[in-house]
Amino acid sequence: MYVCICHQVTEDQVREAVSSSKSTSDTLKKLGVGGSCGICLIDAVKKLEEEIVSHKNSSLTSLKDRQKS
Ligand code: FES
Repeated sequence: MYVCICHQVTEDQVREAVSSSKSTSDTLKKLGVGGSCGICLIDAVKKLEEEIVSHKNSSLTSLKDRQKS
């Protein structure tokens, strides 16, 4: 599903970018999200925040699993 129609950015691209970006604004800038009409920004930021939380949770789970073994 597209997050930004103008720049044809998908949820998968957002998910991938989260792991290599320093911040939400860095990710948006890197992908070009919101750089044209801007109508996507509110939903794009929500999606990014969800992905950041999900990424942090999976990193914590993986760290806990490593500590157990
Ligand atoms: S839909 Fe993202 S800038 Fe227009």
